[in-house]
Amino acid sequence: MRSNDLIHFCPPARVVLGCGSRAQLPALLERLGYKSGVLVTDTFFSQHTPWVREYIAASEALGISTIVFDGGAADPTTTLCDDATKLIRAQIGERQPDHIIALGGGSNIDLAKALCVTIPDGLPVKNFIGALPAAPKALPLIALPTTAGTGSEATPGAILIDPSNATKVAVMDNVLRPVIALIDPEFTYTCPPRVTADSGVDALTHAVESYLTLDSSEFDRSGQVDPGYSGRSSLTMLFAREAIDLCARFLMRTYKDGADTEARIGMAYASHYAALSYGGAGLNAVHGIAYAVAGLTHATHGSTNAVMLPYVLDALRSVRATELLEVARLFGIDTKDQAAAVRQLPVLIRDLIGQLGIPTNLREFGVGQEHLADLTRDALAVTRLAKAFPVADVPATYERIINAAWHGKLGE
Ligand SMILES: NC(=O)c1ccc[n+]([C@@H]2O[C@H](COP(=O)([O-])OP(=O)(O)OC[C@H]3O[C@@H](n4cnc5c(N)ncnc54)[C@H](O)[C@@H]3O)[C@@H](O)[C@H]2O)c1
Repeated sequence: MRSNDLIHFCPPARVVLGCGSRAQLPALLERLGYKSGVLVTDTFFSQHTPWVREYIAASEALGISTIVFDGGAADPTTTLCDDATKLIRAQIGERQPDHIIALGGGSNIDLAKALCVTIPDGLPVKNFIGALPAAPKALPLIALPTTAGTGSEATPGAILIDPSNATKVAVMDNVLRPVIALIDPEFTYTCPPRVTADSGVDALTHAVESYLTLDSSEFDRSGQVDPGYSGRSSLTMLFAREAIDLCARFLMRTYKDGADTEARIGMAYASHYAALSYGGAGLNAVHGIAYAVAGLTHATHGSTNAVMLPYVLDALRSVRATELLEVARLFGIDTKDQAAAVRQLPVLIRDLIGQLGIPTNLREFGVGQEHLADLTRDALAVTRLAKAFPVADVPATYERIINAAWHGKLGE
């Protein structure tokens, strides 16, 4: 407990986690009274795994009808969402679905989240960007993550790319948190190494970044009574600490050997626990700057987070020394001198990222020095993340971090 915490915690209504747990879903949906759904996925899952076929057969036997939309794609755009809305509405005709199921990584889950608000009235998704109005209308979402991962199964946001200006936009409301987050670690066993590394480092970033973020007592909720994010608390830190420990133990193991089931299960837990932390606490500079880097380079979400993570940790050495020492210990840094141990952590994380096959500085990402000022400006423009960075002078610190990440300099 921390006596000045102000907790506003909105987890998914049900968390079902365990190997093989996907087999429980049809009976659970029947029990909850669902009758007619849309399953949002991509062709990898509909054509190369038995999971869609098995689900449809088992749920139909219980009287639940489902339309499959397998047009999901990595990093979904607002155009994809609007096209999917039209297609699905044409297929369902007069009969509104009573739930949506997402099967896939963060991309399919985010597309499905956005469809929860667009399908009822067929409106374009741009009408829902930002916070939703009071008493928001959204279909209930059941999320089945297949990466470990984004943790989108426990967050209030859907991230889409607006192709008109290549920026990421968000539909954000607690009503979008899934009514069921079903995490079956076996879904992740087919992830190729690149997806395993990118999504795994995303989970690590969520855990560490939310562990270090602004306290709930200082968080600016902008007057919202039902905020999506509200700063770190003893509750979110509980999940973050466990997630960091699991990532320290299992992230590299899953990358080196995708058949290591203990490591796969460990990362499935890590991803969800990290989401229970950042899905309440929120994030700050790593994601804020990573969004700007992704806008410039179009590199994956996980890899743009990864390249920034060590440099952001380095910038927090004085304001978050105690927490960074805890993280260092979880990663096995046992140097007695505490300041030295904290200094070693960003170096260790950067080595880990390099071993995961991800560039470790912005030059390797193809960012030119002439882009650094624009990157700083674009990152600061994501104000909901910038304002949660726990330093006194956010613009100057962002500028220093981006410069350090370009030069590959730590520990100065
Ligand atoms: N809403 C949120 O809270 C939130 C948080 C973080 C990231 N995101 C978003 O999530 C997206 C990234 O998601 P991701 O990292 O999970 O990857 P992804 O969903 O983009 O998937 C990447 C690729 O991996 C494939 N894949 C996924 N699972 C697989 C499996 N089990 N076996 C084989 N292939 C598989 C997909 O088909 C796809 O081709 C980004 O668009 C990002 O913006 C959202």
